[in-house]
Amino acid sequence: MTKSLHGRVAIVTGAGRGIGLSIANALSKAGANVVIADSGVSIDGTEPDPTIGHTAAEKIGGSSIAFTEGLTSPTAAKALVDYANDSFGRIDIVVNNAAILRDSFIFKGDPTDWDSVIETNLSAAYYLLAAATPLLRAQSKANKDYRNGRIVNITSTAGFYGNFGQATYASAKAGLLGLTRAVALDMARAGITCNAVAPFATTRVTETIQPANESQAKYKARALRLPADHVATFVTYLCDEKAQHVSGQLFAVRGREVFIFNQPRPKARTVNTETDWSVDTLAVAVDEDLKSSFTALETDLEAFNTEPVI
Ligand SMILES: NC(=O)c1ccc[n+]([C@@H]2O[C@H](COP(=O)([O-])OP(=O)(O)OC[C@H]3O[C@@H](n4cnc5c(N)ncnc54)[C@H](O)[C@@H]3O)[C@@H](O)[C@H]2O)c1
Repeated sequence: MTKSLHGRVAIVTGAGRGIGLSIANALSKAGANVVIADSGVSIDGTEPDPTIGHTAAEKIGGSSIAFTEGLTSPTAAKALVDYANDSFGRIDIVVNNAAILRDSFIFKGDPTDWDSVIETNLSAAYYLLAAATPLLRAQSKANKDYRNGRIVNITSTAGFYGNFGQATYASAKAGLLGLTRAVALDMARAGITCNAVAPFATTRVTETIQPANESQAKYKARALRLPADHVATFVTYLCDEKAQHVSGQLFAVRGREVFIFNQPRPKARTVNTETDWSVDTLAVAVDEDLKSSFTALETDLEAFNTEPVI
């Protein structure tokens, strides 16, 4: 295998297991020095276990090292960036992959769960990028030929479709799309790319899916056959020089299928050129001009329950 990322330094959050571990492994195999940032928490973000990160670093081998502090504060993000920079002298790649789940129907929602999920799945990504991007930008400014800066945010189709009981998770994951777009714009002049990837893979999380209907049950059965390696290969591609022109995009990877998503843009328009709208005129215009563009109220589990290509 060619070591196309030779000498690069990558931070991968949540790399102790699951999809993050596959990504860290693939980046390491491609020649990168990888910081496995994982506090080893349970799916709901409790019970930290530092052995998870250390074991992953040993398993991946090479020059990989572990950072096991929980990533839910600007201080932890800064400590992670300093650790990577002190250990390897630079940072080229940041993969925001760590996430937790605290599912419940909105009408049974607990604001504490909202705070925890937003903090881990969205704010932590912002904290890490706020801490790491000054360094990435300085590296780019110091060398006009530097074209190695890469940011990948691991999102979820739940953020774009919604799913039963996932108000906290879907909101955080949808937030990552706004973060991806804004960061892609902010870093474009420095030649640093930022993309979002929605993965499908069998992990401990997939195993806990409680199907709400037959269609979702089919999704689960099929998702349990999807290795995470395909996602890791795609993230490695995004980090390669060959993907220098790819930024601000939203992808999904499901086995050997790679999707690019459209991003919310106006689909149809109705306009009243004569006078202000009233409820009555809107009731007619929405049905006549916009209704055919409504987005179906289906979940991502129903939309992606087709037979996987693996
Ligand atoms: N598995 C799928 O099919 C699927 C589908 C959609 C999205 N995703 C996304 O992919 C990513 C990886 O998911 P996974 O299924 O591998 O999950 P996982 O639970 O197996 O792994 C997540 C890792 O993140 C770590 N982590 C969580 N909070 C942390 C924190 N605050 N600080 C440091 N580490 C922390 C955990 O210890 C864990 O090792 C997540 O962002 C998830 O939302 C996965």
